[in-house]
Amino acid sequence: MLLRAERRSIAAAILLIVAFCLPAAAQERRGTYTPPPADAIHAVVAEHGMVVTQERIAAGIGADVLRRGGNAVDAAVATGFAMAVTYPRAGNIGGGGFMVIHSADKHEDVAIDYRETAPAATKPDIFLGADGKPDIAKSRDSALGVGVPGTVAGLTLALEKYGSGKFTLGELLQPAIELARNGLALADDMADTLPAIYPRLAHWPATARIFSRADGSPLREGDALVQKDLAATLGAIAEQGSRGFYEGPIAEKLAKAVRDAGGIMTPDDLKSYSAVIRAPVRGNYRGYDILSMPLPSSGGVVLVEMLNILEGFPLADMKQGSAPELHVLIEAMKRAYADRARYLGDPAFVNAPVVALTSKDYAAKQRASIDLDRATPWTDALSAVPPREGSNTTHFSVVDSLGNAVSNTYTLNFPYGVGLVAEGTGVLLNNELDDFTAAPGASNAFGLVGFEANLPGPGKRPLSSMSPTIVLKDGKPVLVTGSPGGSRIISTVLQVIVNVLDYHMDVAAAVAAPRLHHQWLPDEVRIERGFSEDTLAGLKAMGHQLIEPMGQTSANSIAVTPNGLLGAPDPRTRGAEAAGQ
Ligand code: GLY
Repeated sequence: MLLRAERRSIAAAILLIVAFCLPAAAQERRGTYTPPPADAIHAVVAEHGMVVTQERIAAGIGADVLRRGGNAVDAAVATGFAMAVTYPRAGNIGGGGFMVIHSADKHEDVAIDYRETAPAATKPDIFLGADGKPDIAKSRDSALGVGVPGTVAGLTLALEKYGSGKFTLGELLQPAIELARNGLALADDMADTLPAIYPRLAHWPATARIFSRADGSPLREGDALVQKDLAATLGAIAEQGSRGFYEGPIAEKLAKAVRDAGGIMTPDDLKSYSAVIRAPVRGNYRGYDILSMPLPSSGGVVLVEMLNILEGFPLADMKQGSAPELHVLIEAMKRAYADRARYLGDPAFVNAPVVALTSKDYAAKQRASIDLDRATPWTDALSAVPPREGSNTTHFSVVDSLGNAVSNTYTLNFPYGVGLVAEGTGVLLNNELDDFTAAPGASNAFGLVGFEANLPGPGKRPLSSMSPTIVLKDGKPVLVTGSPGGSRIISTVLQVIVNVLDYHMDVAAAVAAPRLHHQWLPDEVRIERGFSEDTLAGLKAMGHQLIEPMGQTSANSIAVTPNGLLGAPDPRTRGAEAAGQ
């Protein structure tokens, strides 16, 4: 059944993508990562707890909570709110995300879905132009693309249900409030990327006031980033909990800012938002249990499908980073990303065949269609549409001394979201609704094609690729991982897992190793630098089309080993940090 649908879908995709795909304009420097020399790659070792993030101040805040007796969820909540201040290009309270928790305290594995929702007035054709074709300006650069933010609901729910009970929300918010009120020196990745992104932010006066110098130029390394309105908003959340954000004056201001900018969000949309506790997607790979994010993220389903396909190949006998290994990885990616496009969407609206897609039988059929010597040509007729560049999302991993683990990925979609700070709130708003499929066969900013399952609709959550993941052995965490990178998130998580489980690489080496990515359409392999000439020649000889760059990812991961907790901040991000204690 799946294979027949597959043929129909490919034909539909060819027709519709040719009609609809529009190249995404790169908004920041291209991701041209080259791995550091092997002797410069070291995990950070800690005994009692670890927080690994894309930004160092927030990692320290989370580690401090662990030091003061908090559990991994307490630390994740403090880190998540802190990053809204210290890393506003992706850390947020105006966006949404997903958190996977292994709660040793409660003997539970859960996934918290705090994805943004479409406002109640959303119609399926909201992102089409007058000519009936997708108008990417509507979903990416206008307030119509703003989804109802989920982060505040998600983090407060996580704390309420899975926190240690030793910290109030206000206590965990305090460092974020002080940093926003007193300011912090712009540094590292924020300083590297703000100047290039700034012209997009400068359209919005409330945003420009925060991120520019007095002369109107963007803040530079060492300049103070002061966010007083954001401090007041975080203060309201500290006092009133999530109601301080979703109801009352802040909610009124958020809705007004969106509507003044041409969007459709109302105070009622905010009031009716809720985060959802879901059962994680579960898989098993070579004796390890995989816990990852269920729909409305495609991450867990696609990851488990890929791992199931790969389990039938003797990866350990293939050299890591060799053409034979990478060929089967690419072929697994192609097949699972094709299923993503055709079947997956918000589970409240779409009955996706998750059980079938994550079954070992289905993987066996998929595996049988892989030719070990040749790339499977999926779409000869398509022109290549490059995935959008940029690390638009952010991932952090936390493990505590009691065996609790948190894997959290959250986002504004583009760097700084739509770029609009809601006047008087300091809250940067997302453009997450671009992750919907504007029309069957159209693609989002990451070049990901979708069909009916992911069309916009009132209250609907757009399909995501965010894949916060925890790997367990005998019920205990051994690896916590995830990444930003849009479509490239799931393939990144796959490669970290394969490097650790199949090749027994130290987690820092597993994260630093060059990566590649295939997402079914366009039919091309995006590659980082660092693969050997032999490998590249081998892949080309099999018929793979290799294109640089792959774009930015950042797999900030933790391995739990007999030698302690090993933290691996991704060397792709300047300022990524493993804070252990
Ligand atoms: N906005 C990227 C994702 O959710 O996959």
